Amino acid sequence: MNKPTVVSGIRPTGFLHLGNYFGAVRNFVRMQNDYHCFFFIADIHSLTTHPTPENLQAGVKQVLAEYLACGIDPEKATIFIQSDVPEVTELYTFLNMNAYLGELERTTSFKEKARKQPENVNAGLLTYPVLMAADIIIHKANFVPVGKDQEQNLEMARKFAGRFNRIYNSEVFPIPRPFTFDGKDMIKVPGLDGSGKMGKSEGNAINLYEDPKSIRKKVMRAVTDTGPTEQNSPKSEAVENLFTLMKIVSKHDVVEHFDGLYNRCEIRYGDMKKQLAEDIIAFTNPIRTRIDEILKDEAYLAKVAREGSEKACESALKTLNEVKQLIGFKSLF
Ligand code: TRP
Repeated sequence: MNKPTVVSGIRPTGFLHLGNYFGAVRNFVRMQNDYHCFFFIADIHSLTTHPTPENLQAGVKQVLAEYLACGIDPEKATIFIQSDVPEVTELYTFLNMNAYLGELERTTSFKEKARKQPENVNAGLLTYPVLMAADIIIHKANFVPVGKDQEQNLEMARKFAGRFNRIYNSEVFPIPRPFTFDGKDMIKVPGLDGSGKMGKSEGNAINLYEDPKSIRKKVMRAVTDTGPTEQNSPKSEAVENLFTLMKIVSKHDVVEHFDGLYNRCEIRYGDMKKQLAEDIIAFTNPIRTRIDEILKDEAYLAKVAREGSEKACESALKTLNEVKQLIGFKSLF
């Protein structure tokens, strides 16, 4: 019964792609069995980039539907929308009083975003790690699954939690630790552009919710090379990437077949790409169908969000009451 608590937030921008799926979402789905999980859609965080109300709403719905379609189970994990649990913004306010300009300005994600959107360096951007800390510690999280880009933000959350504990001479907040998946759980999905990994900002991603025509187009455009000229020669990075993708979505004998062709210098990359595209489509098709079904079922989405927010509010309010006691707020009525 006493499972460790895990918290993770997902920004409602963009679609899930094969990279997120194999890198993170598949692991969330596994974690919900062994941990007390809180997964939420970080819609307040997304305000730093000033979305229109329409885009914000559509983004939240899409992400929720996509995570549910991938197998996040609201019966096992608490899945909710950040803005439905206003307690977190109250804790954020308290934490802000002990978050210092210098340390906030020094975070790489702040510097990075300030560089990317110099016309919109708002205070929300500066205090982004404080809100993120509040998200995590309001549920007394023990673990946070984070990718490389969020490591520093988690480090800040650890700092703010420890600082609050020390100031108020308490142990109200456990110090959250990064949750890292071991090697075999992490499948790194390469990009189609000849290098690196698949990512939204890299502009090389294939979304789970992508239609087959577009998948074919993207795969057919993938970077390759001029082809092997000697038997059993090593593969270039671009071609290796195609094989890696194929290993992820295709049957073993299909990969063997193309590997054999490559080694005998008989490969035609066009044929390999056609096969790869069809296998990606076969893999994503059931997920795409499920996303559509869920998106159409407004009542189901509403039920998930409502029940998630009820559970999250209960947990958040409990912590917040302890925090207010510690701070010295005492109602006069
Ligand atoms: N900052 C995270 C991102 O950009 C999203 C996020 C918000 C988050 N709050 C969190 C992640 C709490 C983990 C825990 O992806």
